[in-house]
Formats: sequence, structure tokens, C-alpha cells
Amino acid sequence: MATKKSPKKPVKAAPRKRARPSGNALRHITSINDLTDDEINKIFAAAARYLKELGHPSVKHRIGKSAKAASGKILATLFYEPSTRTRLSFESAALRLGGGTISSADPTTSSAAKGESLADTVRVVSSYADILVIRHPRDGAAKLAAEYASIPVVNGGDGAHEHPTQTLCDLFTLQREKKSLKNLNVVISGDLKGSRTIHSFVYALARFHANIMLMPGGMGMELPEHVDWRLRNEFHSHPQPKSDDQIAKKKNGIDVIYRTSDQPHQLALMPVKEEIDIFYLTRFQKERWAEGQRNDYLKVDKQFLGEDKYKHASVLHPLPRVGELDKDLDDTPRAAYFRQAAYGVPVRMALIAALLDLDKRTFLKKFDGGFDASDYPIHVQPRELGTVCHNKNCITHDEHDGPYTANKFYVVKKGGLRLRCFYCEADIENLVIGTKGGEIAYFENSSAAVKAGYSPQRAKAVE
Ligand code: NCD
Repeated sequence: MATKKSPKKPVKAAPRKRARPSGNALRHITSINDLTDDEINKIFAAAARYLKELGHPSVKHRIGKSAKAASGKILATLFYEPSTRTRLSFESAALRLGGGTISSADPTTSSAAKGESLADTVRVVSSYADILVIRHPRDGAAKLAAEYASIPVVNGGDGAHEHPTQTLCDLFTLQREKKSLKNLNVVISGDLKGSRTIHSFVYALARFHANIMLMPGGMGMELPEHVDWRLRNEFHSHPQPKSDDQIAKKKNGIDVIYRTSDQPHQLALMPVKEEIDIFYLTRFQKERWAEGQRNDYLKVDKQFLGEDKYKHASVLHPLPRVGELDKDLDDTPRAAYFRQAAYGVPVRMALIAALLDLDKRTFLKKFDGGFDASDYPIHVQPRELGTVCHNKNCITHDEHDGPYTANKFYVVKKGGLRLRCFYCEADIENLVIGTKGGEIAYFENSSAAVKAGYSPQRAKAVE
């Protein structure tokens, strides 16, 4: 298991090391980026096999029979937020594989209501099950759970951070609807800021070379800055503009959206003339916004999608919908959202099988601690010493769970220096590096560094 407490002394950024798996090696999925492209393709091949071998006799996107591969295995679902599709499709997937399920779906009836920390709960549940799916309102909660669990942890949605298995369902749907994942024109619309499904999805789309066109559902609903930055700088996709230009232009009747491409620096702000393959929409994520913050929200109906460029577009939605997607579309062949929900079962069967080594064809490499070595060095420093994660919804700031986290960051050196929270993956910029003897620590400003007895240097100067 990974170190749980902040060490007494700041630790210097360690060079990247490949983990050498021991007998206890396992694998967690807290982000879509925990899976390689090859692994995603293998999972899809297994999902397609399940549909073929165990498919419903008359409805081809549905699983209709069960197997025995997971006989004797137990899947636990630990859900601290409402869910229908994710929890039930995971449970259905485990049962279809011949396994069993245990579920804690109501935080008011679990020990969380008594103030139990997530760290304690997952250590206990690790003795009751073979694989754990967690959903939590805090960003980064899945990573914390993975640090303490001794069984594979799958993120079923953590705050506004990520929802990697929804992305697997979304990508699988794309592949089924459009035959290939490559070079698709995909419009992503809705609450780009608060939708964890979108955050995982855009990383994956960029990795599979889709042209992503962003259409925020309302004012202030653009992608979070750090997601945008990663798309641009790590996935060689294009950022959408930070302003509300898109909405304003839409309102003025000029249909302009932004095209992303895997060719950096070739951003074109262009009228959308080309044909759209996929229109992906999410609801306004009211639970991620303060009361009364809702503004006008996109409404998608037959008229909206009546334009020529959408003629062949499949419409995807992770569901639930709450008024932004007209039900009159349901009977049109382009409405893919119920098929998308149905694919949740074969895709999650494939993921469970891969994580539990039930199918040698989708074997996932295992690592000590459950994760491959990061591309970036990790830095840990005592919370009381210097900077902490700026994301207020990060698990590190939770009253009960915060004390079980470390003040831990990836050190990202690309065009300047940024610290990326180990848990929620939000970035901090404009830091000051403090040095004392051979030690370094990161501070918000020079005076904080000096006060702590460190010599301050602007991060840029250290580059
Ligand atoms: C999504 C979620 O929980 O983020 N739901 C789901 O898993 N299909 C989308 C949403 O709630 O809007």
C-alpha cells in the first residue's frame, strides 16, 4: 500500500521509476488515463465478444444470458452519490459474469453517517469483496480509496473530476455507431465545467484523434482551465476559447464553434461546415454549482439537430437528462443514448474480467500500489508547510477524509512549472520554490517561504 501520512520532512522530487510488481500487484482505474489505448481496445474486443456470445436473442445491444467466469467473485459498490446506470450496470455485469454483488448505496445508512472515513471503509470492504466500485461527491475520492484498498478500485464518478467507465461506454458506443474511433467530428455540449463524464471523454477523444468541438451549455460552463491545459499540452488537442464567444456567437446566429486537432498550433476558429458524426450532451450538473447559479441552458431538439451538418450525427448522452434533450428525438435512429446505457453492461463485464484476470485475452498489467509509474515526479510536503490543493472540492479538504491524504503533487514542468494534485488532478501555477539545505518545498508566495525559513525562488527561474 502507498504511504498514507505526510512525512515529517519535505521529500525531494524523485526521478521516475518503473514499479516492479510483487505478488500483491493489482490495478486501479481512477482516470481514463490509467488505461492505455491498447488496453481500451482489448476491453472493447471483450465487450463485443460478450455481446456476441451472451447477447439478447432479439436486441443486439443488450446482454441476455449469463456466464460463469466470475463464479465465486464479489463486486462491491460503494456509492455516496445518487446513481442508477453506473451502479446497476456494474452489478448486472458482475451477475452476468456469474459473480455476486454487495452494495452500499445510501450514505445515510452506512458508517459514513457516523463520520467514518473513506480510508477505513475501503480497508474494511477490501476484506468483503474482490473488486470495488466507488462514487463520491469529492474530486479525487477514488484515488484516496485506491491508496487504502487492497483490491482493485474503479472510479464510478468522483465529484467533477472523472468518470472513466462512462467514457468506456461512450467510446464503445461511438465505435459501434460509427465503426471506427479515428478522426470523428464530435461536438461536446452541455456543462463542460461540472460534467465529470466530459472530462474523461475529451481526454479519450483526443487520444483517439477525434476532432473535438466544444459547445458550453451556458455562460461560465467552459472546460476547467486545467482540463483545457492538459488537452492542449499533453494530448496535443486544441483548447477551446476561454471566453464566452461560442455562446455569444450562437446567440447572434453565427454558428461558429472551435475545432480541435491533433496538430498543435493549427487551431482554426471556423464556421462548422463539415459533417458532425457525434453530438454529445450532458445535463446541467446542479449539484456542482452553488444554489441559484443556473443560467440559460442549451436545449437540443429536432429543430436544433435539423441542420444539414447534423444530418448523420448520432446523439449521445450519459443520462440522466433533465430537459436539455427533447424526448421527441427518442424514436429517431440517431438517438444512441439508450443503446449507450445498454452497452454499460458488456463494457463493464469486460473491465471486471480484465481487472480480475478472468480472461487472459484482456489481461491488464499489474503494478505495486495499483498504478503504473507516473510520467511526472511526485513531491510530498507537510500540509502546514506550504501550498495545498486549490480545489475546494478536493478530497484533501474533506473534514473526515482530508487527514488521510498526503499533501502530494505531480511536478509538471512544461512551459513553466505547475503542481498537479495527486488526488483531484487540478493544477496550481505561479508557485514559489523554497530551498533550505538540500530540501525544496513549494509556497504560494515569497513571504510564506521566508516565514518558513526557506529561500524563495520564482518557479520560472528554477526551470
Ligand atoms: C453521469 C454522472 O454521474 O456523472 N451519470 C452516469 O453515470 N450516467 C452523468 C450525470 O449525472 O449527468
